[in-house]
Amino acid sequence: MNMIDIIQKKKEGKSLSREEIKWFIDGYVAGDIPDYQASALLMAIYFRGLNKEETFQLTEAMRYSGDTIDLSPISGIKVDKHSTGGVGDKTTLVVAPLASACGVPIAKMSGRGLGFTGGTVDKMESIPGFRTALAPQEFLDQVNHVGMAVIGQTAHITPADKKLYALRDVTATVDNFGLIASSIMSKKLAAGSDAIVLDVKCGDGAFMENKEDAVKLAELMVEIGNNAGRKTVAAITEMGQPLGKAVGNSLEVIEAIETLKGKGPDDITQLALRLSGIMVYLGGKASSPEAGLKMTEAALADGRGLAKLRAFIEAQGGNPQVVDDYNLFPEHSVEDRLIAQSDGYVSKIEARRIGLSSQHTGAGRATKEASIDLSAGIYVCKKVGDKVEKGETLAIFYGNDKAKVDAAMAEAQKAFEIGAEPVEPPELIKEIIGL
Ligand code: URA
Repeated sequence: MNMIDIIQKKKEGKSLSREEIKWFIDGYVAGDIPDYQASALLMAIYFRGLNKEETFQLTEAMRYSGDTIDLSPISGIKVDKHSTGGVGDKTTLVVAPLASACGVPIAKMSGRGLGFTGGTVDKMESIPGFRTALAPQEFLDQVNHVGMAVIGQTAHITPADKKLYALRDVTATVDNFGLIASSIMSKKLAAGSDAIVLDVKCGDGAFMENKEDAVKLAELMVEIGNNAGRKTVAAITEMGQPLGKAVGNSLEVIEAIETLKGKGPDDITQLALRLSGIMVYLGGKASSPEAGLKMTEAALADGRGLAKLRAFIEAQGGNPQVVDDYNLFPEHSVEDRLIAQSDGYVSKIEARRIGLSSQHTGAGRATKEASIDLSAGIYVCKKVGDKVEKGETLAIFYGNDKAKVDAAMAEAQKAFEIGAEPVEPPELIKEIIGL
């Protein structure tokens, strides 16, 4: 086989065989295929697409390009949850404790933020002492004893995806259905859980801007997961405005804690209950998703979800007192407010701009190597549909660098639209696929 023939074949719109896909992935990971040929193939794929069979084969080749995790030492049905990424998405920090409190073991790997989206690993690292790297045995033991563990992606899992994703990022080939689906699902399958709940974000702050595309991506991923013998369900959820009100690492952890105390914003609360309810069902602890929802509602109401979060933080070396004392989180020294210039109703809050604005405060990184300010970010005081009066605060900005906070405010100002007419808040959960 040779790479020129493979590129030529895809350029002509023909399907690649299992052998050709595997040969490419193995050769690329081994360093035998240079970036310029891999880039040419990615661009050919971008324009010609991958059919389902090619997408399955690419997923499998990437899944087995490095280590896979064996979760069999953990008893019970392990259920994973994955979000395609968004702004203010702290769902894992609420969903995992709730599902775990209902008896579902959670052994999860999460990522860091890049660009305008955040990542759970960065958020957890805002908890003083919290360790996101655990030795494999420690990880398994913690799930068996505490019921949940969340760690960063290890270097040895799906190295093909790591390398290809970095290349896609700089060759404008990220936004392709087959490439996104195989990238996400190769990691989920390698991570070893028995069932997977996907939160496919839809809107201006997500990869998929409209519902039609989000459904197409979700259906593809559900099919890949089920084909691989993992029961997979996807929810299409709103990302036209930020989820919840907090955007930025420690701010989002605090909002997750507040949500587990029953005092969180309505959208994050409803989404977390629904997704964790599905996880409880897939984990065999409830007879239906509706029964699962009732169980997670009870775990929220009686504090078992919060207690689980506390135990999880402590088990991973974090200071569990953060749950009661938010002053223990990293501190900001600069604070400013965006003020409404007119009366009316909030008709739009562009999630992407709020994500960029949060990045400007210092909360996000522009390159993989950049360091971040864990205290920085934005608190969105008014959401779409809210009535607002001139002079009221639309959002509060936090950080440690006045110039950065000023830049963040300038960006966020463009994100808000206030209209004269009342506006219905957008539908939070648009569709569920695979139940
Ligand atoms: N997230 C991933 O892990 N991969 C993609 O291709 C897109 C989003």
